[in-house]
Amino acid sequence: MKPRVLVTEPIVEPVLDFLKTFAQVDVGERGTYSSEQALIDSIEPYTYLLSMLTCPVTKRVMETGKNLTLIANYAVGFNNIDIQAAKELNIRVANTPDVLTEATADTTMALLLSVSRNILLADKELREGKFDGWHPMTYLGLDFRKKKLGIFGMGRIGQAVAKRAVSFGFEIIYHNRKPLAQNIEESLNAIYYSDLELFLKDCDVLSIHAPLTPENRHSINANRLSLMKKGSYIINTARGPIIDEKALAESLISGHIAGAGLDVFELEPKIHPLLLDAPNTVLLPHIGSSTPETRFEIGMLAATAIYKHFNGETDSIPNLVC
Ligand code: DGY
Repeated sequence: MKPRVLVTEPIVEPVLDFLKTFAQVDVGERGTYSSEQALIDSIEPYTYLLSMLTCPVTKRVMETGKNLTLIANYAVGFNNIDIQAAKELNIRVANTPDVLTEATADTTMALLLSVSRNILLADKELREGKFDGWHPMTYLGLDFRKKKLGIFGMGRIGQAVAKRAVSFGFEIIYHNRKPLAQNIEESLNAIYYSDLELFLKDCDVLSIHAPLTPENRHSINANRLSLMKKGSYIINTARGPIIDEKALAESLISGHIAGAGLDVFELEPKIHPLLLDAPNTVLLPHIGSSTPETRFEIGMLAATAIYKHFNGETDSIPNLVC
């Protein structure tokens, strides 16, 4: 008998076609499963859940999902899933590492360039008819040469950003649970800081790439922002709650932080009202991995985990979280 798979949002057809070769597939309408209750109400008949990062896959959801054996999260981040509960209930969880590294690193650079070189403001003012000719003193932004790009979370995406930033002239510093292997560190000429606060003091640009954990929630708070250099920039393409958004907005308003490029937010899709009004921000609706190729690969990686599990090849799923 074909297993039942719930795909919580429409995803690209070829991935659904692949799933349909071995499973009975239901696809949720956009946004339907972004509440715990909606998942609880529907999960019972499904053996597999292909969830989005917007789905709160809580213990209650998993307890209701009596037939659930594996959750394939359509994201590298899996903070939307209660992993402890999954372990207790013997439900496997897979995520989608690697495939979105390059697209997310590109988005990070887009944010960094936009915010530190006044791109949005310059475009807006030109359209408003304010371009009255070239001037030597207008729209002066950050010169990247010899500036320190601080990478908070030096995993795959952090390293891909570092590679790009080196070619722009940045010096790379990083904070991570542990230092990189020496050869990788040398290839990026990257300097490791075990102490978060010393690290923050040294950044000209801070770029966040750590997974969200209970320990790093709000780790960029008012106190730590005040330690950063006046005129420094913050980019976040990881997870919103790592930054205390109110504190960041206040720091932008005071001018201590010169600009912020954010692709992720604490309470998506809500944006803190102070951030919307803060100066020099580029705010994106969580589009870090948004290219057709990447979204196809994310889908195939998630679907393949389901396929392998169904075929009894769980041990050969490379992207299992638990
Ligand atoms: C992820 O995979 O965690 C990203 O945030 C999705 O773009």
